[in-house]
Amino acid sequence: MKILKTKQEVKQQLFAHRKAGQSIGLVPTMGALHEGHLKLVKNAMSATDIVVVSIFVNPTQFNNPADLEKYPRTVAGDLDLLEKEEVDYVFLPEVEEMYPQPTALTVDFGNLERILEGAFRPGHFNGVGVVVSKLFHIVQPDKAFFGQKDLQQVAIIRRMVEDLSFGVEMVVIPTCREKDGLAMSSRNGRLSAIDRQRAVILYDSLVQARKELLAGKSWFEVQKEISHKFNEEPGVKLEYFELVRTNSLEMISEIDLKAPMEGQKSSICTAAFVGDVRLIDNLSI
Ligand code: PAF
Repeated sequence: MKILKTKQEVKQQLFAHRKAGQSIGLVPTMGALHEGHLKLVKNAMSATDIVVVSIFVNPTQFNNPADLEKYPRTVAGDLDLLEKEEVDYVFLPEVEEMYPQPTALTVDFGNLERILEGAFRPGHFNGVGVVVSKLFHIVQPDKAFFGQKDLQQVAIIRRMVEDLSFGVEMVVIPTCREKDGLAMSSRNGRLSAIDRQRAVILYDSLVQARKELLAGKSWFEVQKEISHKFNEEPGVKLEYFELVRTNSLEMISEIDLKAPMEGQKSSICTAAFVGDVRLIDNLSI
């Protein structure tokens, strides 16, 4: 496993592989790797000849400076895990390498970024759009691997790939969960023991809501019940709990109880603070 720190090194190393006709897979991460990331890596290893994992805590996607500061950084452990997976390259740039100057360009995803995460984290998706564009230009992967836990991120990157003709195939991998259902996240490590127990409310609520919707209850009733459930639980604060079309993220208020066609599939998306840690999750219906 080789560690590459600069764009130039990535270009030099990947040139020979590309020339030899080998396919390149990219797993973009912000480090603090967990089993969910490793599942992306394993998928990349079996789907492409050469795998590059990037580790870069991208400052421009944090709308809250305290969140950036507290974001877990575990590079030595991350490298050990990737070495065990026999990853070919880790791209580990410094901030100055990725942002030699402040970016003048901004990416606006229209309605896609004004809802859900976008509404609560202004500027977040601009930061994601810019850094993922940079990574795609630097690595020029054939395939890029993302987790379904970040459903809105997947939707905006997919849209960016189409709108700007990146020619990268997006591979989306189902969310990895702890035994009690909590979605794996680098932020989980910041939960206190009691908050860790409370955090399962996100997954429990998603499962409950899906069950009730499928049983014919109205979304209005379901949403009211779930808000109440969060209000009753100490130490948690619900930000949103919404029913959306999975592909477009358009908010909807009912589901198609008959087998929905591909573009008509729906998901429930949620975000909540558990203590001072903000968690997100979603479930497809
Ligand atoms: O999902 C993440 O960890 C980040 O948003 C990403 C895609 C690596 C961009 O910084």
